[in-house]
Amino acid sequence: MDESVREILARERAGGEVIVRGWLRTVRHSKQVSFLEVTDGSCFDGLQVVCSEACEGFEEVVRQLSTGCAVEARGELVDSPGKGQRFEVDGTRVVLVGGVGDDYPLQKKRHSFEFLRTIAHLRPRTNTIGAVLRVRDVASMAIHEFFHEHGFVQLHAPIITLSDAEGAGEMFRVSTLEPGHDPRDENGNPSFADDFFGAPTYLSVSGQLEAEIGALALSRVYTFGPTFRAENSNTSRHLAEFWMVEPEVAFCDLQGLADLAEDFLKSVFAKVLERCADDLAFFDKRIDDTVLSSMAHVIEAPFERIDYSEAVKILEASGRDFEFPVHWGVDLQSEHERYLTEEHFQKPLIVTDYPKGIKAFYMYSNDDQKTVGAMDVLVPRIGEIIGGSQREHREDVLTARLAEQELEPERYWWYLDLRRHGSVPHAGFGLGFERLIQFMTGMGNIRDVVPFPRVPGNAEF
Ligand code: 4AD
Ligand code: MG
Repeated sequence: MDESVREILARERAGGEVIVRGWLRTVRHSKQVSFLEVTDGSCFDGLQVVCSEACEGFEEVVRQLSTGCAVEARGELVDSPGKGQRFEVDGTRVVLVGGVGDDYPLQKKRHSFEFLRTIAHLRPRTNTIGAVLRVRDVASMAIHEFFHEHGFVQLHAPIITLSDAEGAGEMFRVSTLEPGHDPRDENGNPSFADDFFGAPTYLSVSGQLEAEIGALALSRVYTFGPTFRAENSNTSRHLAEFWMVEPEVAFCDLQGLADLAEDFLKSVFAKVLERCADDLAFFDKRIDDTVLSSMAHVIEAPFERIDYSEAVKILEASGRDFEFPVHWGVDLQSEHERYLTEEHFQKPLIVTDYPKGIKAFYMYSNDDQKTVGAMDVLVPRIGEIIGGSQREHREDVLTARLAEQELEPERYWWYLDLRRHGSVPHAGFGLGFERLIQFMTGMGNIRDVVPFPRVPGNAEF
């Protein structure tokens, strides 16, 4: 394969012929010279190709070029006399590979992110979305590295499933039945006998239940895959399809889990900070000037840890007029989470031991009978980035919890059965990958940190 722009720019010194293939981010034609900035997405910077009359194809090709054209350019790599780049290419031959229509929408001016979402097939060519996609890639690799350095086995959880892992009923149905087909059995109840799987199936909301199967055999596993929620939330932090990272550890309690979450986030942030320096510098300059300092802060500061009851006391004493009033027993809303992490503690915060009435059926019931061994990691600007818990590994308690939440035990038969055979205390969490990327890039809307956002009313591209 040819050298990428990234590799060319990383060379020790100028000299020799290079070939660069990519898209023109900017083009400037002056009287006798044309300046082409070619990007291939391999790094934030483009490579400047300077062409004069001596360049083959100057009149017929170079002088006709405009932003967005795909080109192949050759020339000598020389030290750049201009500011802002170490090297440039003294162009000897430029070929147009793919031209652009007059209506090419990405011009040099700044475009709104709302507009860019309507052209998601072209937006990866913008500085911002290109940088987001590279940060996603590096963060994803850093996550896999962390787990492999710590003896975890990656488990591939299914996407199509019968079980509602969160018990919240926010699932997308998967069916091959024709619309309008309303199958009923002889008693008039819905029947799925004619459907593909012979049972009602859904897109998974979480790989956790399967990860628990893995942990109770391989001790430390993690999943990293797409998850789906049919919740009608049109917010800047919710997607209907998002990627989740879910480690699950056998012989682990809530404290051990909180330690893992903290080590994990610190490691991933450190790697991304080191490997994406140019992209992050761009976000810090153009999107949110706290990006670099807040990443450094996550790496350096020990996370604060409090339990839910203490969090409620702090919120009640805050004197704030929250939209959702706080008292013991209510779920914390984004405004409460942000007050705690951004204003009160000013650092990442782990809140543990939530009331059992607001949490999922699988969480470990604490001795106080009121709370469960749940844990949320909150960070400034985002609020909840991780949700996890110690799991209920006692069969009788789990059966009672399913009944309390009016969930049918038959649907969870294997999950219960797992508690009958070699059950051990275990714990795990889920990190919302897009929320992590939002925090790292400072991007305000979660739709702009995923290449193809899925939100209520829109699944285009
Ligand atoms: O807190 P949640 O719902 O936890 C679970 O799904 C557990 N089964 C995880 C586990 O223990 N293995 O989701 C986990 C994280 C949240 O903290 C949030 O970062 C993210 O997933 N998340 C979303 N991200 C984008 N869009 C949504 N609609 C999200 N819902 C949750
Ligand atoms: Mg949660």
